[in-house]
Amino acid sequence: MNETLRVIKRRRSIREYKPEQITDSELEAVLEAAIQAPSAMNQQKWHFTVIQNKDVLAKLTDVARESMKAGPEPMANRAAQPDFSPFYHAPTVIIITGDSTSRFVEIDCSLAAQNIALAAESLNIGSCIMTSPELIFESRKGAELLKELGVPDGYAHVCTVTLGYIDGDSPPAKPRNKEVFTYVK
Ligand SMILES: Cc1cc2nc3c(=O)[nH]c(=O)nc-3n(C[C@H](O)[C@H](O)[C@H](O)COP(=O)(O)O)c2cc1C
Repeated sequence: MNETLRVIKRRRSIREYKPEQITDSELEAVLEAAIQAPSAMNQQKWHFTVIQNKDVLAKLTDVARESMKAGPEPMANRAAQPDFSPFYHAPTVIIITGDSTSRFVEIDCSLAAQNIALAAESLNIGSCIMTSPELIFESRKGAELLKELGVPDGYAHVCTVTLGYIDGDSPPAKPRNKEVFTYVK
């Protein structure tokens, strides 16, 4: 197996992070990988908001807590935990937004997210691609925060990627269904 295949196989969604920050050169390498993703007609109608500021992460956590309070019981209970973090306490959070008028923008942004996750894995950095933060950005406060954070007008949240050094061991791979291939030779 070559290194690319090894990295693809090794990547897991990480939900426990060390508090120490990844280096700027690691972050730049990961972001460069993001924009190397293919995009429909090379439109690149994506935007990456990299958040490492603790106050901003705390603000996003407050908005998430508020939105989740009104949700189903397990969600409300999770948000009520004193150490709740919608981002699993990752020190770096990348919010990926895309131009809502662009037909394939969700695919473009998802490919960029996977590039981020794989580049991170290749650098021994953990990641988790998440859609649940959309709860934050659906709320009025969350939408205002997106604007304050410089997300371009007309761009909406597609997914968020958490990044950080893994605390402990990477979890084992969840089983994959292998009955999903049809060969037409
Ligand atoms: C579109 C998408 C949305 C996801 N949203 C979340 C999420 O909100 N929270 C979370 O903890 N994991 C989320 N995940 C991670 C999946 O749970 C994870 O990829 C899956 O369980 C397989 O595990 P693995 O990534 O470790 O192989 C998401 C993954 C994808 C592709």
